[in-house]
Amino acid sequence: MGITASYTRIQCRRVHVRFRKCSKQAIFMREWSPHSEEKISILADYLAAFARASKRAVNRVYIDSFAGETINILKTTGEQFPGSFESALAVEPPFTSMLIFEKHRGRAASLRDLASKHPGQRISVIEGNCNEQMAINLQNVPKKAPVFAFLDPDGTELEFRTIQLLADHKRGSGKPKIEMWILLSTSGLVRMLGGNRNEAERQGHPDRVARLYGAWGPWLDVWEARLTNRVSPSEARQAYLLLYMDRLIGLGYKHLLARPIKNSHSELYVMVFASDHPVGESIMRWAQEKDRVVHRNPTPSLFEFPESRPEYEDIHTGWREEFPIALSEWIEYEWQD
Ligand SMILES: C[S@@+](CC[C@H](N)C(=O)[O-])C[C@H]1O[C@@H](n2cnc3c(N)ncnc32)[C@H](O)[C@@H]1O
Repeated sequence: MGITASYTRIQCRRVHVRFRKCSKQAIFMREWSPHSEEKISILADYLAAFARASKRAVNRVYIDSFAGETINILKTTGEQFPGSFESALAVEPPFTSMLIFEKHRGRAASLRDLASKHPGQRISVIEGNCNEQMAINLQNVPKKAPVFAFLDPDGTELEFRTIQLLADHKRGSGKPKIEMWILLSTSGLVRMLGGNRNEAERQGHPDRVARLYGAWGPWLDVWEARLTNRVSPSEARQAYLLLYMDRLIGLGYKHLLARPIKNSHSELYVMVFASDHPVGESIMRWAQEKDRVVHRNPTPSLFEFPESRPEYEDIHTGWREEFPIALSEWIEYEWQD
C-alpha cells in the first residue's frame, strides 16, 4: 500500500532528574542519559535539513508539544546540550513561527525567556497541557506552510486527539500534512499493562493507554494475550508499536519510520516519524542512519568514535498475519473533554 516503515537498533541509557548549583542560583535542571542527547542531535540534523528544504516557503512552522528545559545536562560527562526548542531556534533560515508547549510553570518561564531573545520570530510559549491547548493554538498556523511537530513526552502523556488535530490541520489544503516525530514509550506501555490486571485497572492505566491510541480494541487483545502468556514481552512491545503505526496510517500518513532507543539491556522507547513527503522520509532516514558519537562514558570526546550506522529492517509490512493471535477492530475512544 505504498507505506514505508523501518526500524533501527541503537544503545542508550536511563534518565535522571536532579538539582544542581549553578553560579549562585539553585537551578532545576534535568540530567539526561546519552540517548536523549542522541535523540536531540538527530532532531537538530533533521530540522536543519527541513529548514533548507523549505527555504522558499513564505512561512515555516515548528511545533514543540513537550518542550522541557532550556538547560540540559548530560549525565555521563556533565556537559550541557541544547534542548529541542533551542535546536529549533538554531536553524537557518529560521522558522517564521513556533508553538512551544510546556506544562511545568518554571520550565515555561525559562522557555519564554529564551524566546524573548529571538524577537524576529513569532514564538508562542504556551504554559499548560498540550492536549488541551493544541486546538486553539493551531488556528494560527497557516495551512499552506511546511510544519514540523516534535512530540516528546516523558511517558504516555501524548493523547491521540492531539495527533489527530495535527494530522487534520492541513487536510484539504492540497499540501502535505504536518510532519511529526513522536516518542512512543514502548517500555512504559509494557510496564503499565503489566501482569496484574486489577492493579493496572485500579491505577487507571487502560484508560490512559486508550487515550494514547485514541481507541480501544487490538491493544487490549495484545494485553490479554500477554496476561495469559500467549505472547512474549518483546512480542507485546513490538505489537504496541506496530498498532501505533497502524493508527498513523489510518490518519493517511504515507511514510513512517520507527527507531527504537535502547539502554544497555532493552528498548526504552521508539521515535516514530510520520510524513506525507518522500523527501521528508529520506532526510529523516539519513539523520537516523548517520554515524554519531554517543557519549556513553565520562571520557573526553577526543577518545570516542562515531558508532556505526544502526541496522534497519522492515517490520511493518504484513505483521498482523504473522502475529500469534488474531486482533480485533479499533473502537474509537469517546473524548469527554
Ligand atoms: C521529555 S521532556 C521534553 C524534553 C525536551 N523536548 C528536550 O528536548 O529537552 C517532557 C516535558 O513535557 C512536559 N509535559 C508533560 N506533560 C505535558 C503536557 N500534557 N503538555 C505539555 N507539556 C507536558 C514535562 O514537564 C517535561 O518538561
